[in-house]
Amino acid sequence: MRTPIVAGNWKMNKDLSETKSLLSELVSADVPSNVEIVVAPSFVVLESAVNATSNSTIAVAAQNVNAAANGAFTGETSLNMLGSIGVNLVILGHSERRDIYGETDEIINKKVIQSIEVGFRVIFCFGEQLSERKEGSHFNVVSEQLSLGLKGVTDQQMDQIVLAYEPVWAIGTGETATPEQAQEMHSHIRSFLSDAYSTEVASKVRILYGGSVKPGNAKDLFANPDIDGGLIGGASLVASDFLAIVAAAE
Ligand code: 13P
Repeated sequence: MRTPIVAGNWKMNKDLSETKSLLSELVSADVPSNVEIVVAPSFVVLESAVNATSNSTIAVAAQNVNAAANGAFTGETSLNMLGSIGVNLVILGHSERRDIYGETDEIINKKVIQSIEVGFRVIFCFGEQLSERKEGSHFNVVSEQLSLGLKGVTDQQMDQIVLAYEPVWAIGTGETATPEQAQEMHSHIRSFLSDAYSTEVASKVRILYGGSVKPGNAKDLFANPDIDGGLIGGASLVASDFLAIVAAAE
């Protein structure tokens, strides 16, 4: 049995007081014990988020990291810096990092490998563009992103990886993949894992769906056998919506 995960990617939202207020609602809520809950606030409030969640089961993730240990990389943050404030989980490969900031599969792969080697867990994101789905290349695109992004990750290290399938056309658009489309892709991802790693790895790795998950569609998405929870953008910014999605994953 895979423990479901519901992770909130806050993106560039919530200042310090807003972070404290959202987290105080989340930590005081009655949440199911069999769902892992993750929040990924912005870098400047990460330490406050770690403190605010220290007596809860909510884990705090960073939204990005630099693969280098230190040095002249203006504006960047290292794994060691994150570890020093108690963060050991990072979202990598998000389509906004790929599309807006030009992160290639190779750059993302370096970040994945470094993160894993220092003991971090990684939520690795990938997903096709609308044009790729329309032309029918979405399965190949996803396989390619997985094989390049996870290059060099061993069977054993796959324990530190959570996958997040986020079709780009469904992110922030209000247009969700149907439960059938999501399940079909998640099943494809599990076959990929089976071929690239082993059936054991394929059956153990959690695969989240992301892209306009809301309280109203979460249950139908999460009901599918290969969907192990969600990576939530907009709806993670409102406590009642996020908690309703967490409840749907139970
Ligand atoms: P939305 O839930 O706002 O579509 O965002 C999804 C996402 O990109 C999570 O990483």
